Amino acid sequence: MLPMKNKFFGANWKMNLTTSKATDYFKTFEKLFATHSLTHKDIVFFPPMQLLAFIHSQFNQNIKVGSQNFYPQKQGAFTGEVSADMLLEDGISWVLIGHSERRSHLQEQDSLIKQKVLWALENNLNIVLCCGEDLSIRENGQEKTFIQKQLLSALEEVNPSHASKIVIAYEPIWAIGTGKVATSEQIGEMHQFLDHNLSSLGFNTSLIRIIYGGSVNAQNAKEILSIPYVDGTLVGSASLNPKDFFTIIDA
Ligand code: PGA
Repeated sequence: MLPMKNKFFGANWKMNLTTSKATDYFKTFEKLFATHSLTHKDIVFFPPMQLLAFIHSQFNQNIKVGSQNFYPQKQGAFTGEVSADMLLEDGISWVLIGHSERRSHLQEQDSLIKQKVLWALENNLNIVLCCGEDLSIRENGQEKTFIQKQLLSALEEVNPSHASKIVIAYEPIWAIGTGKVATSEQIGEMHQFLDHNLSSLGFNTSLIRIIYGGSVNAQNAKEILSIPYVDGTLVGSASLNPKDFFTIIDA
């Protein structure tokens, strides 16, 4: 039997919403939230950087806030970057690492992703580590080899005692923002593969959540969340609408 884990729901806002729009968002979200009991669910918002502290101030302990980026150094001359200490002091306890948009638009390589993973975990941040293949890799049947390489590169030097601070997001690039969701079979197969690989790396997989991302919405969330080895979702576009994101969490 698969272990029971708290389901994890991440809202990746990317470069969307302003302070005024976020204020309206949370008025609606709080009303929905107040009428439902969401026990055994972990909810983390990843807003743009300048909204982090504001959003953190809107919530009690039930909802967490995470940063879409940080730099793996203590402090110093790293223009445009933010450190783990800065985030933690403001109550920001999660970070996204390895998102395909940062890998492609910002040229983040496996070597930087590995440094970020090690730095975040050693500095008490929780991580959502993203992995995912593009369409040509999938069409060539290379997706498992590719994902295994991404996972190994990011986690091979991580001490397995950090397991409970790690969430792995499987996000096939061809499904992100395209409306094209992977099939239940494709998702189930890859999540099981990830689970086995994490075990081989020495991690206790009853402590690591493996979540799916890529065109998750209010209509398909229930089906996706019922697939074995799927411990939650990372949601982009649909998380920008409070009712849709709430429906996904409630599915
Ligand atoms: P999407 O984005 O839900 O808009 O496909 C998911 C993500 O990039 O994390």
